[in-house]
Amino acid sequence: MPLVTTKKMFEKSMKEHFAIGAFNVNNMEIIQGIVDGAAKQNSPVILQASSSAIKYARINYLKKLVEAALEEHNIPIALHLDHGPDFETCKACIDGGFTSVMIDGSKYDFEENITLTRKVVDYAHDKGIVVEAELGKLAGIEDDVNVATEEAMYTDPDQAKEFVERTGCDSLAIAIGTSHGAYKFKGDAKLRFDILEKIKEKIPNTPIVLHGASTVIPELVEMCNQHGGNIPGAKGVPDEILHQASLSGVSKINVDTDLRLAMTAQIRKVFSEDPSVFDPRKYLTPARDEIQKTVEFKIKNVFGSSNKI
Ligand code: G3H
Ligand code: 13P
Ligand code: ZN
Repeated sequence: MPLVTTKKMFEKSMKEHFAIGAFNVNNMEIIQGIVDGAAKQNSPVILQASSSAIKYARINYLKKLVEAALEEHNIPIALHLDHGPDFETCKACIDGGFTSVMIDGSKYDFEENITLTRKVVDYAHDKGIVVEAELGKLAGIEDDVNVATEEAMYTDPDQAKEFVERTGCDSLAIAIGTSHGAYKFKGDAKLRFDILEKIKEKIPNTPIVLHGASTVIPELVEMCNQHGGNIPGAKGVPDEILHQASLSGVSKINVDTDLRLAMTAQIRKVFSEDPSVFDPRKYLTPARDEIQKTVEFKIKNVFGSSNKI
């Protein structure tokens, strides 16, 4: 099956109330782990590369690795640019064979975000490629942030409607309390489902994307720490909350941190248990297996996309 855009998978996800996992990729083992896991679950999947991942792996290598995955498996796979910082990066990915790009204009003010997003949408749509945009600020909510400042960071439902109408974007990343990385919450994890509901009322036909949505799987954090790591107090979005999001209109759930933890935990374990190991296959094999296991668990038990191809 050739690479697909996210259009059909999102349509199905909105109709049947499940979410599609979008997993960040940097190398062969990560791609294999994700795609093998998704294929075992007979699930659509989105592979996404950030601009720093593209700098690291190089666009042609990523493309060819994904092509190899497509030859092996018969599931819908989209290749997506994550957090495209500017028009030029989006254009390079579209020209390089990606089927979806994100233009992240969330650092700009509303009007500038619209202008930049519109420019990317015009270029992408002309070539049959879809565009994810972002509205709202995804920073972690610190303890000392006052209520007014906190509210201002969340996506405003009325603005979301205007933004989607004026940009023509295909999907929208929103801010409802998640943040990137391993330290998402100081106290209890909490997402603003009330805001999500209002956004869905305003833009019922636009697929919604949740960034910063790793669980920060406690067993993996513990495994890293047990084997020489130092990641104290890491905390993510619990599976039950992500499951609720996937039932409440979120179509795409972004996961990077959990796969980093999966890979690192297994590599640390091998090294600490046998310091004589120096064959990369000895530690990359369990790392790849842990990624596959993690992806399968999420697809099956959290996102609900098993057998949704
Ligand atoms: O949201 C960002 C992703 O986790 C990618 O991170 O820029 O370090 O590749 P990166
Ligand atoms: P996490 O850091 O929670 O995995 O989020 C990843 C992400 O949003 C990639 O765009
Ligand atoms: Zn993100």
